[in-house]
Amino acid sequence: MSVLVTILASLPVLWVLYILYPVLRTKWCAETNVKQRYDAEWALVTGATGGIGQEICTTLAKQGMNLIITSPTAENLSRLREKLQSSYEIVVETIAADLSLGANHAPPQFIQDLKDRTAALDVRVMFLNAGYAHVESLLTPSAVDQVKNLHTNAIINVYLAEWMMQRMAKAGARGGAIVATSSCVSFVPTPAAPMYGPSKALLAAFMDSIKPEASLLGVDLLTVHPGPVRTAFFDNIAKTPAIRMMVQCGSTAESVVKSMFQSIGHVSHRDITVIGVLCHLFAAVVGSPGVGWIADRVLFKVASSEYKRYFRGPLQAAEEARKRV
Ligand SMILES: NC(=O)c1ccc[n+]([C@@H]2O[C@H](COP(=O)([O-])OP(=O)(O)OC[C@H]3O[C@@H](n4cnc5c(N)ncnc54)[C@H](OP(=O)(O)O)[C@@H]3O)[C@@H](O)[C@H]2O)c1
Repeated sequence: MSVLVTILASLPVLWVLYILYPVLRTKWCAETNVKQRYDAEWALVTGATGGIGQEICTTLAKQGMNLIITSPTAENLSRLREKLQSSYEIVVETIAADLSLGANHAPPQFIQDLKDRTAALDVRVMFLNAGYAHVESLLTPSAVDQVKNLHTNAIINVYLAEWMMQRMAKAGARGGAIVATSSCVSFVPTPAAPMYGPSKALLAAFMDSIKPEASLLGVDLLTVHPGPVRTAFFDNIAKTPAIRMMVQCGSTAESVVKSMFQSIGHVSHRDITVIGVLCHLFAAVVGSPGVGWIADRVLFKVASSEYKRYFRGPLQAAEEARKRV
């Protein structure tokens, strides 16, 4: 009886340790050298010009990897290419593309450009890192922009994963890595940016779902879930007290990318920063219905003045229309 009680009593602890395992497993690992581990020459980095993307590029450049870097802004890409090529003995190719654009379910032009530009290159390492949060109420309305957000953060990566793995399969190549930058909000709702959290959850679930073909090709998959990071990510988001607090608590892109490289080849998911770990634990302990209930009963009420700041215009219009009825 006492053994049974001990086992039952230790279940919550084992559950927490299970959630924390990737952090504990990789916290003290050396950063993985992808060039050596996968005998790779080229890596693709999306969202390369941002805070996290630039750190990824610098780490890869230090390892001697040649880079294909993308972002929507050609000038930012040229500047980053100059900086990397003048500091490290590597070659950097740039492709400027807005990844939010996809038409009629056809592969975006970016994928054709990528195929043309990389036909002779052996790309077996990819960092699916481009992303942003579109903060706007559906009452505005904003569905088209919300879907663009989904396309950039998640859908484009379906094309990219297919592109890399098909090429590897045809060439009989083995060994590589795909690293996706998800977010701690993939575990919780993001009411002011209704597609941001869901797009990051979709990205994480997609990565889990391509495990069979990735394993066949010896491609390691890693999805990282960082908490807030002090980058330009927050530049286009209104600085309400909650957002300001989040930025202040944020970690640096450098420490996030260090954790990312410590995890490559060791685990398939990694929560990064204390807030990242807490979000995952919270969602794991209370489950989806619990997250929804707490969001509705607690979060939205406590933070209602925050949401009203964002949605003042559309909320007022809806309220006035309701009064007229
Ligand atoms: N910062 C955080 O708190 C945080 C937390 C968790 C996860 N993340 C995720 O981490 C990733 C990197 O974010 P970051 O913090 O480094 O933010 P960032 O500094 O704003 O960088 C975002 C990158 O994505 C690119 N990008 C933006 N919109 C794009 C579009 N429509 N098409 C193609 N590329 C686009 C940006 O290009 P330009 O430079 O040309 O604008 C930039 O290179 C994102 O996926 C983000 O969701 C961030």
